[in-house]
Amino acid sequence: MTKKLYVKTYGCQMNVYDSERMADVLAPHGYSAAQSPEDADLVILNTCHIREKAAEKVYSELGRLNILKQARQAEGRRLYLAVGGCVGQAEGEELLHRAPFVDLVMGPQSYHRLPDLLRRAEKSAVVDTEFPSESKFNHLPEESGRAGGSSVSTFLTIQEGCDRFCTFCVVPYTRGAEFSRSVTDVENEARRLVACGAREITLLGQNVNAYHGAGEAGEFSLAQLIRRLAGIDGLERLRYTTSHPRDLSADLIAAHGDVAALMPFLHLPVQSGSDIILKAMNRQHSADDYRRLIEKLRAARPDMALSSDFIVGFPGETDAAFDETLALAREIDFAQAFSFKYSARPGTPAAETDTQVPEDVKSARLAALQAILARSQAAFNASMTGRTLPVLFERPGRHANQMLGRSPYGQWVHADMAPEYRGRCADIIITEAHTNSLAGHAAASAPRVAAAGKTAPAPAFDEGRPA
Ligand code: 5AD
Ligand code: SF4
Repeated sequence: MTKKLYVKTYGCQMNVYDSERMADVLAPHGYSAAQSPEDADLVILNTCHIREKAAEKVYSELGRLNILKQARQAEGRRLYLAVGGCVGQAEGEELLHRAPFVDLVMGPQSYHRLPDLLRRAEKSAVVDTEFPSESKFNHLPEESGRAGGSSVSTFLTIQEGCDRFCTFCVVPYTRGAEFSRSVTDVENEARRLVACGAREITLLGQNVNAYHGAGEAGEFSLAQLIRRLAGIDGLERLRYTTSHPRDLSADLIAAHGDVAALMPFLHLPVQSGSDIILKAMNRQHSADDYRRLIEKLRAARPDMALSSDFIVGFPGETDAAFDETLALAREIDFAQAFSFKYSARPGTPAAETDTQVPEDVKSARLAALQAILARSQAAFNASMTGRTLPVLFERPGRHANQMLGRSPYGQWVHADMAPEYRGRCADIIITEAHTNSLAGHAAASAPRVAAAGKTAPAPAFDEGRPA
C-alpha cells in the first residue's frame, strides 16, 4: 500500500539533510512525498532546539496538526504525527505530556529505525532518544531517493555532534559527542550525488572543521578530505559549514588558496567581539584570534567572503562589551551575518547565571548590530556590479527563460538563460545588486567557466548563505 509522507524541517542544514534521509529510509516501505500535511498519512516535524523560539514553533505547529489529526479520525482514518530532531531529543517523554496526541518522538540519531518505530507506534506512543553506538549512517539505503531529486547543489553530512561545549549551546547535549564519518563513506556518497546530477556539495557538520574521519593511512583532516573530493569528476564546487575558529587549521586555510573547487566563502561564527564574553561563552579564542584568522584566510584567498553568527545580550554583556562587538562587525566587512538575542536554554551553563540581560536591552542591541551588518551586506553585494562572476545555475527563475544560480560567494544570481544551463557554470556580468540577490547577463565567454580565479579583486564583503 502506498502512503504519503510530509516532513517539515526547522533549523540548520543538517536537519535538511536528515529530512531527506528520512524520506530515503521510508521509501522502500511504501512512502512517497505528500505536497502538504493535509495530503499525508505521516507528518514528521524535524525540529530545532537552538533557541527557545525555534522550540516553541514546534508546539504551535503540533497544535495545528492535532486539529487535522482529529478531523482525519472522524473520517475513520489515521494521521501519524512524529517529532524528530533536537526538540525530540531534548524533550523526550516530556513532549508527550504537552502533546499527548503525538505518535512518535525521536532524536537525530534514530531516523534509520523509523520503519520499526512506526510499527510500534501503531499500538501506543513511542519515544526513542537513545544514542545508539552504531552509526545511523551505516543503516541508510545506498541508492537514496535523491536520484529522483538530483539537486545541482546538495548537502552531505560528514560530521555530527560537538565537543566544544559553548556555554550557551544545546548542541553537545542534543546531538551528542563529535563523530566523523569515514573518508570512504563520504567519498562514496559524494560520487553517488555527482552521478545523480550534483555539481556542488556543501559538507555539513555542527563543527565541520573538527572533522577527523578514518582514511587509508590514519585520520583525514577536513582539508585532506576536501582535496580528495575535489578530484571527483563532475564535481565543480565544494563548500563546508559550520566552522569553529579554534578548529580552522593552517592546512584548511591553505586549501582555500589552492583548491579551485573550494568556494571563496566561509561561515565562521564569532558570537561576540568582547574577550570577556568570549571567555564566558567558553569559545576558547579571543577577538584578536578571530581577526588574525580572517587575515590569514584573505592572504590565502584575497576575495574570501566571510559570514558569521553573533549573539547579543549574553549574560553579563555590558554596554562596553557590546561596543566591542559593534566595532568588530564594522571592521570585518562581513558578506553576510546572522545575529540572535541570547536565549537561555535549560541545562546549559549560561542559563544558570544571574546576570541575565533584560529583554529590551537585547532588542536594542540586536537592532544596532543588525543595522551595521545590513550595511555591510549591501556594500558587499554592490561591489559585485560590473564584475563577471562564474554562476552555477540551479533552477528556473520566476520569468520565462530566466535561471537562478549561485555566485562563488553564495549569492543568488538571476540571469536570462536557457533552461539547459541547469547544472552548468556560466560567466555572468553583474548589472544589479539587491539586498539578497544579484542580477546580470551572460558574458561573451559563456557557456563554461571554472571556479573563481585567485586573482579576483578583494571585494568589500557580503552574500547569501549557501543553503
Ligand atoms: N541563544 C541565542 N543564539 C544561540 N545560538 C546558539 N545557541 C544560542 C542561544 N542559546 C546561535 C549561535 C550559533 C547559531 C547556530 O545559533 O550564534 O552559531
Ligand atoms: Fe554549539 Fe557550535 Fe559551540 Fe559546538 S561549537 S557548542 S555546536 S555553538
